[in-house]
Amino acid sequence: MITKMKLADPKSFVAKNQPVFVYDIHKSWEQNIKEGPIWKSGKFPPLPQEKKYQFLGQRLVSPIAISAGPASTKIWTDFYFKMGYGLVFEKTRRTIPRKSNTAPNIAIVKLDHSIARENLNQKLEATMEDSDWEKYQCMTNSFGNPSPTMEVWTKELIEQKKGVGEGQLLGCSVTATLHSGATMEDAALDLLMAGTAAAISGAQVLEFNLACPNVTENSVEGEMFQDEKLVACILREFKKRFSALPCGFKFGIYKSKQQMKKVFVAAGENLDYVSGINAIAMTVLGEKGEEILPGRKISGVCGRADQIIALEHIKWADEIRKEEGLKYEILGGGGIITPADVDRYLKAGADMVQIAAAALSDPLLAYKYRLFYGKI
Ligand SMILES: Cc1cc2nc3c(=O)[nH]c(=O)nc-3n(C[C@H](O)[C@H](O)[C@H](O)COP(=O)(O)O)c2cc1C
Repeated sequence: MITKMKLADPKSFVAKNQPVFVYDIHKSWEQNIKEGPIWKSGKFPPLPQEKKYQFLGQRLVSPIAISAGPASTKIWTDFYFKMGYGLVFEKTRRTIPRKSNTAPNIAIVKLDHSIARENLNQKLEATMEDSDWEKYQCMTNSFGNPSPTMEVWTKELIEQKKGVGEGQLLGCSVTATLHSGATMEDAALDLLMAGTAAAISGAQVLEFNLACPNVTENSVEGEMFQDEKLVACILREFKKRFSALPCGFKFGIYKSKQQMKKVFVAAGENLDYVSGINAIAMTVLGEKGEEILPGRKISGVCGRADQIIALEHIKWADEIRKEEGLKYEILGGGGIITPADVDRYLKAGADMVQIAAAALSDPLLAYKYRLFYGKI
């Protein structure tokens, strides 16, 4: 039921000269991280006083999380905590440093509908016109999971934790750096090392990112979520050491419900939550067929285009936990743009939802959801 609250109009927090995105898509990732979110008004809505939502045993102020990606370093995680999100993830970190893929890392995709499975081989067209976002609400991103050294990001995480408010959580996403020919043991060792570093530096939720579509050196890094032995191993070993720390993994596209089930069942009781979907790897080119993100013809498509596949995965994950009597929770996302989408994903079976593209275009989404759909 829609309940109107006596809270200020969201527009009152937005400056007249606010650009389309809080992230400058024409600059490098490093510059954006250094300069922080572009929020011209400097105004934030009041934080909710009540913790009406529940995820992973915690009471939270919002059912919306910032997915691993848009927020990196304290200046960005603080921004989203001040915007009233229930859970904010630090962008995926590695034990071995890696630079970001060459800028630009984001382009607007000219697709005005959601992608169906049978169209995943389609070539998409993109532009660098920020204003095209309003029409398509679809983007592509390709960073390749850049990461500073462990010493740097663990110290930063300790500082980021200080920005967490009542009814909020700081998550950290980690991945493995794999050389060609790396074994399952190599991947597990690196993932557990990264997970341990995050756990002892204050992460309140740990997410293994097993599905990055944009690692140019070794695409195996983006398909780890398919490997039931790897998933079972890292969760078992992590939970032996950090039994109280909620832990899950990020997935990409499963080819069938059966395949998803095989992996989730193998993870069993050690799986606290599943997170998905990651951006969808597709061919994205400029208007004349040229590369729009330099050196990459394939990149991760996100925003509205992901809705059909994202909702299919939430439905499968919800069915599987009932069928198998598993306790994991679902952090559902991919394609959420509006408060009505949030409501729809929660009703489809997600326990909490997450946003990435919309976090860049509409950081007030948590506030708007609270205004129109808040459980008051
Ligand atoms: C700017 C940006 C950076 C991202 N970086 C990461 C990342 O570091 N780790 C990760 O697991 N997913 C990353 N993603 C993917 C998102 O977490 C999310 O799964 C995907 O974009 C689909 O959600 P959306 O439609 O709300 O954007 C990134 C997405 C965006 C837009």
